[in-house]
Amino acid sequence: MRDSRETFLPRAFVAGYPIKHSRSPMIHGHWLETYGLPGSYDKIAVAPEDFADFMLRLKDADSPYRGGNITIPHKEAASKLADRIDPVAEELGAANTLWREDGLLHATNTDGIGFVANLNSQHPGWDKVERAVVLGAGGASRAILQALRDRGIPEVHVVNRTVERAQELVDRFGAPLQAHGMDALNSLLEGAGLFVNTSSLGMDGTAAPVLPFDRMREDAVVTDIVYVPLKTPFIQQAEQIGLPTVDGLGMLLHQAVPGFERWFGQKPEVTAALRQLVLDDI
Ligand code: ATR
Repeated sequence: MRDSRETFLPRAFVAGYPIKHSRSPMIHGHWLETYGLPGSYDKIAVAPEDFADFMLRLKDADSPYRGGNITIPHKEAASKLADRIDPVAEELGAANTLWREDGLLHATNTDGIGFVANLNSQHPGWDKVERAVVLGAGGASRAILQALRDRGIPEVHVVNRTVERAQELVDRFGAPLQAHGMDALNSLLEGAGLFVNTSSLGMDGTAAPVLPFDRMREDAVVTDIVYVPLKTPFIQQAEQIGLPTVDGLGMLLHQAVPGFERWFGQKPEVTAALRQLVLDDI
């Protein structure tokens, strides 16, 4: 049963440390306003030493919150401290979305859903490919590798500067993943249907190598989860040879959809207006 404070005004939050630069309040605030829903979405700074206590208070029947988003550096801890974790977040070892249901605190991870929904919305059919090449093996690559595997892509190649990190992810997610060092990148792109940059190459104006995207399939999609700048070096290179591209901003917007629907009871749309609102803030 929900307590009276909760039913009075649905509230959700994003918790992280630091939290100042989170764009989640802007996204959820826009949806609350667009749909004319009562409720609020708060930004909460929680230091690492306070996080376990924060989770305990969320489990309390008196908590004013229906749930919330969890961001850096608490995603791993959230997955361990929730009462229930779904298989997606459990395998990732990281949760970004929490909600209370039947007196229990539940956790999931919506990054993979966001990645897939963004590609679906811009290039339906993007997943009818034999080979995907994913550059990077950091925290940001995990949900994407999991999603590509679950989508049934026959070959998912993980290319990373430190090949051991790529191998760890292959061990975690299993077939159809394969690990490689950077020297394999050019030949792997030959005939590939999807390239995803999850590394920090090109972020904030840093340099990125020129890749032979012209050797990919003619209808191959090039996507980058970096969205500052929006037109990363990889997106620019692909555009120059006329390949379809998908920038990283859409993933940020789409990963927010399931949480909003759960807390506020309305499935929100990712619109051009929302995209522009966030773009103006970048
Ligand atoms: P995140 O959690 O955001 O993914 P991360 O764990 O620091 O961040 O990972 C950054 C990714 O960018 C890694 O795959 C990293 O490669 P290493 O695992 O070898 O560190 C990759 N990366 C960063 N700088 C790079 C560079 N100059 N050349 C190639 N890869 C780089």
